[in-house]
Amino acid sequence: MRPNLVVALFLPGVVSAAVGDDGSLWVWGKSKRGQLGLGKHVTEAVTPAKVEALSGENIAKVSFGWGHALAQTVDGKLFGWGYLADGRIGKMGNDLVEASPLDSSATPFGDSPDLEVAEKRVLEGMEKESDMPIVWEPRLVEELEGIEVVDIACGLDHSLVLCRDGALLSCGSNAYGQLGRTKTDLGIFPVDINLSPVSIAAGLGHSLAICQLPEPDNSIGTTNIASWGWNQSSQLGRPGPGNIPSLIDGLAGENPTAISAGRAHSIALTSKGELWVWGSGRSGRLGSGSSADEPEPFYIDSLEGFQILQAVSGFDHNLVLVAS
Ligand SMILES: *[C@@H]1O[C@H](CO)[C@@H](O)[C@H](O)[C@H]1NC(C)=O
Repeated sequence: MRPNLVVALFLPGVVSAAVGDDGSLWVWGKSKRGQLGLGKHVTEAVTPAKVEALSGENIAKVSFGWGHALAQTVDGKLFGWGYLADGRIGKMGNDLVEASPLDSSATPFGDSPDLEVAEKRVLEGMEKESDMPIVWEPRLVEELEGIEVVDIACGLDHSLVLCRDGALLSCGSNAYGQLGRTKTDLGIFPVDINLSPVSIAAGLGHSLAICQLPEPDNSIGTTNIASWGWNQSSQLGRPGPGNIPSLIDGLAGENPTAISAGRAHSIALTSKGELWVWGSGRSGRLGSGSSADEPEPFYIDSLEGFQILQAVSGFDHNLVLVAS
């Protein structure tokens, strides 16, 4: 197995995955929504099982949302499976892809001042999703055939896809503005961003992209992070508006090199090897010693002295891999 940290993001679809060094995909856990990709109505795997529908493919990366999953191959093909409402894995040959009942666009969950109330509403919405359109095994995302994919990120019910030519695409629910585009059609379309994204991450309802800056200088650096979508707990790390991708000024000059997003918080590694965090601090998830939300990115100095190899966010926690 490749020595990478894998954190399966979204409960209650509890699926874990690993990529073998031959590029095979292995999954285990539970999903009523086909996230295992092991075949029709297979909802549980108690030990790691190989995803046969992907045999022959050299998998580079896999990402899980609440009910959907995406995988990209080394040669840039994109596969999707699981719950397909809102077109979160593309249309899958189905022009009648419907909006999920979660996406009651008039009052996105973000209007509640209380994160717990918002989370409860998300869970209630999920319960209502009864008659679910599901793709039980990985299928090529036909809309992107011939386009080379270099990075993927699944949020709770949206997806981001970064292409070799620099185009950043989004699909799925736009209840929080997490698609970052004014075009609201169901399907995979470009994010309204005039920067050059190089890597992407998605939280429950927010999106992050590390972008190469067009005119780098010492004060702003060479890269920064654009954020958009849900900002319930300040996980965008910047002032509004939330539905338009914009750079996080608080990271100017820090040159972020890696990003990860949890349910309502965000983390980044910088070129100096520092870990920066912002957003929801509930239950100590920011590692700041407090449970307060942090509206602006700040640097975790308790990791000073460690060489950080990788940092990833789970739903409400983070893991940091350091060199020994
Ligand atoms: C996000 O929330 C924080 C705290 O309420 C606020 O200061 C900031 O302006 C908001 N940003 C966006 C993009 O809405």
